[in-house]
This record gives sequence, C-alpha cells and structure tokens, in this order.
Amino acid sequence: MSTSRNRLLDHRFIINTGKGGVGKTTLSVAMAMAMARAGRRVLLFQFNVHDRVGPIFGKPPVGPEIVELAPRLFAVNTTPPDAMREYVLMTLRVRLLYRAVFENRTVARFLRMIPGLPELVMLGKAYYHEGESADGRPRFDAVILDAPATGHGMFLLQIPRVISDAVADGPMVGEAHRMAELLRDRQRTRINLITLTEEMPVNETLEYQRRLREELDIEPGGIIANSVYPTPFSATEVRQLRDLRDTLRIRTNNNHDSGERDLSSMLEAALFRDARCAMQKGYLDRLEQESGAPVIRIHHRFEPTLDAAALEFIATELSSGGSTS
Ligand SMILES: Nc1ncnc2c1ncn2[C@@H]1O[C@H](COP(=O)(O)OP(=O)(O)O)[C@@H](O)[C@H]1O
Ligand SMILES: [Mg+2]
Repeated sequence: MSTSRNRLLDHRFIINTGKGGVGKTTLSVAMAMAMARAGRRVLLFQFNVHDRVGPIFGKPPVGPEIVELAPRLFAVNTTPPDAMREYVLMTLRVRLLYRAVFENRTVARFLRMIPGLPELVMLGKAYYHEGESADGRPRFDAVILDAPATGHGMFLLQIPRVISDAVADGPMVGEAHRMAELLRDRQRTRINLITLTEEMPVNETLEYQRRLREELDIEPGGIIANSVYPTPFSATEVRQLRDLRDTLRIRTNNNHDSGERDLSSMLEAALFRDARCAMQKGYLDRLEQESGAPVIRIHHRFEPTLDAAALEFIATELSSGGSTS
C-alpha cells in the first residue's frame, strides 16, 4: 500500500525518544522546522533542559514561556514547578484549590517525593497543548516532544499508566487515563525511536522497542537511524580502490616513493570510510529485520556545529521521509 502522505510528520503528537546523544534534540528541531516550513503551527516541547534551541534561531535560551522562534515554530522548555502550576490551573481551573494544595510547602515537598509526578505534570502540559484551542481552532497543529533520556524515554511513557494504577481516584486519574490513551493512539501520536547505527545503541533500541510493546502495549511509529554516513563509492569503485591499494602496497614495499605512500594512505582512508558504511548498513538491515518497523535514515552532517542552515538540510531529509542510502 503506498501513500503520498509523509507519515513521519503527519501526526499531531510526536514523541522523540532514545538515549542521550543520539540526536533527539537535533531531530526534534529539524522536524519542527520542516513542519513550520510546510505551513503548520508547531510547538517544540522540551523537558527541563539546558536549552540550546533558542540560540540556534538567534534568540535567548527557551524557558517555561512559549516563544515563537521562527514563523509558526514555537518552543517551550518546561520545568516541574511551572508545569505543575500551569497544568493544575489550566485543567482544574480552581485557583483557590491550587493555592491551598500546591502552594502549601509541606504538600509541595510531599509531591516532590512522589516519583513520576514532576514528569506527569510536564507530560500533562504537553498533552494540554495538543488539545488546546484558540479562536475556535487548535492553537497548534502539532506538538513535538523531545523526551528526556532517562531509560530512553520509557519512564515518561510509563507514567500515565503508573499513576492510574497507583492512585484510585481524583482528577489526576482521569487525566492519566486520557494521556495513556493518547500515547497509544496511532492516529494522533507517533513515537519515534532514535538511534545511532552502532552495536550497543542498536541492541538497546531493539530491547526498548520490545519493552514498549510488551509492557506498555505501545507500538512505536518507527525507528530513525541518525548520523548515517552517506555511501561514497559504488561497488565497482570500491573494487578499483582495493586493486589500486594492493598494487601500490607491493610497489611501495620495493621502492620508497613518498608520493605513492601518500596515495596509499588516501586509499586506506577511502576504504576505511567504505568499511564504516558497510558496517552501518549491517546495523540498518538488522534494525529493519528485527524491529519489523520502518527505519528512516538521516545522514550525518559534517559541519562543525549544527546551525540553522545545517538543520535545514536535515529538515529537508525528514520532509522527504529520510534518505535511502
Ligand atoms: N545528523 C547529524 N549529523 C551530525 N551531527 C549530529 C547529527 N545529529 C546529532 N548530531 C550531533 O550530535 C550531538 C548530540 O545530538 P543531540 O541532538 O544533542 O542528542 P540528544 O538530544 O539525543 O542528546 C550534538 O552535538 C549534535 O549536534
Ligand atoms: Mg537533547
């Protein structure tokens, strides 16, 4: 079955999960850029991080206030106390109750002791914005969650269920149920598993996918293999490079021409690069076979820092559904 819709960027609620350093923030920003470029109003949602996103757009680091970083591209970097205050006020709309309960110090300390509660309120805020409307239409066309790295983001996805299992009654339970539903709703929500194409990250991604399915009944929308090296040579070219290297090796052993030694080093470097690509290809194949999920490839960018221009390239790759080689 083919579809002209780009499934990667179609959803209203996109959650980018994975270990620290795999590219969650980078791809979240690039996705937001791609969507904003396509005319959608998008909110990039970060969980209490040292923000690097504002400066990419020449703005101060993003804090708990929603800011528009580029046309239609909004961002927020929420903290547990901010999310708690806002979320409770927004959903319960009982200011007095909020003051009585949440601004009481003893209670506040107690709430901090409940594991998962800070994450629940932050997730709750994201959930609220997903459903928020302004002037009779949705305020945002999409919300992109740059998930915290703890346990690949599994913790965040577990919270609604943990809360609804642990707490018998009260306003939080209904919210937790609705959030758990949203996380499993494959029409509205897409959960991406982001990984690098190396032994450990690939093993861990497959394990994480298995746990999402078995423990949370969540089927991820897909895997994104980030930082894939573009294949530089065709098979014929690789054969030619090898032949040339072997010929030079024999010759250089006999006479010590430094020019030939330099060429020989360059050939080694080219073949090393090719070997690395072949290794990545092996991991990509494994991810595809063992996950049974679509694997989207995003190329490694060789710029020293990923500024807005470099991110635009990644945004374009994401818009077209990733690279094929
Ligand atoms: N496709 C890519 N090409 C080149 N560098 C990348 C790419 N994706 C991520 N990076 C770099 O890798 C590092 C980690 O990425 P980041 O998005 O911060 O990961 P995470 O949010 O998962 O911790 C950053 O320095 C980022 O610039
Ligand atoms: Mg990050």
